[in-house]
Amino acid sequence: MAKNKTAFVCNDCGADFPRWQGQCGECKAWNTITEVRLGTAPKRTDNLAGYAGQTSAQVQVLNAIDLSDLPRFSAGFAEFDRVLGGGIVPGSAILIGGEPGAGKSTLLLQTMCTLAEQMNALYITGEESLQQVAMRAHRLELKTDKLKMLSETSVENICNIADREKPKIMVIDSIQVMHMADVQSAPGSVSQVRESAAYLTRFAKQNHVAMIIVGHVTKDGSLAGPKVLEHCIDCSIMLEGSTDSRFRTLRGHKNRFGAVNELGVFAMTGQGLKEVKNPSAIFLSRQEEQTSGTVVMVLWEGTRPLLVEVQSLVDYSALANPRRVAVGADHNRLSMLLAVLHRHGGLQMNDQDVFINIVGGVKVSETSVDLALLLAMVSSFRDKALPRDLVAFGEIGLSGEIRPVPSGQERINEAAKHGFRKAIVPMANKPKEPIEGMEIIGVNTLAQALEAIL
Ligand code: TYD
Ligand code: MG
Repeated sequence: MAKNKTAFVCNDCGADFPRWQGQCGECKAWNTITEVRLGTAPKRTDNLAGYAGQTSAQVQVLNAIDLSDLPRFSAGFAEFDRVLGGGIVPGSAILIGGEPGAGKSTLLLQTMCTLAEQMNALYITGEESLQQVAMRAHRLELKTDKLKMLSETSVENICNIADREKPKIMVIDSIQVMHMADVQSAPGSVSQVRESAAYLTRFAKQNHVAMIIVGHVTKDGSLAGPKVLEHCIDCSIMLEGSTDSRFRTLRGHKNRFGAVNELGVFAMTGQGLKEVKNPSAIFLSRQEEQTSGTVVMVLWEGTRPLLVEVQSLVDYSALANPRRVAVGADHNRLSMLLAVLHRHGGLQMNDQDVFINIVGGVKVSETSVDLALLLAMVSSFRDKALPRDLVAFGEIGLSGEIRPVPSGQERINEAAKHGFRKAIVPMANKPKEPIEGMEIIGVNTLAQALEAIL
């Protein structure tokens, strides 16, 4: 019998080391490395059959490979499918993360009840009792006559039962409560999570079961043992949304079968999660009276636009080091924009506190937000409101130039559809044909943009 192997794993980040050390080389945490005994691999080793000499594997030319081997099936929600890149791939392992209360169990219960109508589906709940899940399904008026349920937290038992039941899709809710007998630390620890996830994904691959694994995020917003999980799964998606907002967004972070920049939007209602088919304006709730320091911009999320409101407050500071606060946008970017504004816009904000906020809890990582941020800051600084029907987007370079952004035309079209009448955009994004009812101002430099509107 093979000797059980051990590894030294950091409990914080999941990095792996050949021997014990006081400080983790990856995350630099002290005293977090523990020795873990690695679980034994499942008995079946079909994928290693080739080593014996007689192999059935053959070399093929890339374009001769049959693509119909990858039939996807719908998850029952178009928004969920979109994030997965067109549906669930059989035999794939999908990790769905989110804060407790985000709605992961609700989303998966709804999905599984729909899927159970067409295929053998198994839902494993380790966190909630079977009665709790049944009550929820009843309240949400889901079809419950086909979905198989199991309340279990031992990974070995789960795999044995799944081997017998032969589901096509299974849900593990959640990986943090799963444990393996071989691993000595407590459920939820990095080594348990890592071994359980590896065992489950191996099972999924070998038995061609689509496996959806639920994972909770830790307090710093990352999945417990992120590095541990990410390499063994095919797709990692996050269900996000602040608890005070009813909207939940589903976003891909890794996807072996599609793009990762897609965004799926859901609304949490009394009847569970409902998809929002046309989410472009959900974050816009504009007041009647226009105040200084706010402007709307158009983001590009995957394949579709999203209108968001950017706000800024610039106010005299009594502090020696005035505050620079960015909520929903990058802090370094804010410092850079302030430097550009000083140098190329002639505006000095050294004695001002500067706050920026993207309304609705949206997080913006695109550079196309630059121009909108600057206009909002200048508008607040001068206490001069921007027109209500204005949208602005564009990237700002260090020499004060305004650079074009992808999908400019589509962004402008979307804004026009929602009743905006004026747009300040990079000159290269200005459409050749005029858009009816929309005044489009193309600008090349920051100075031109400020002159045009403020
Ligand atoms: P849940 O799916 O249990 O979250 P997770 O599994 O991600 O921890 O969702 C729980 C929250 O969703 C709970 O706080 C209440 C809310 N909710 C609704 O608002 N409406 C509903 O129909 C359901 C089922 C939940
Ligand atoms: Mg849950």
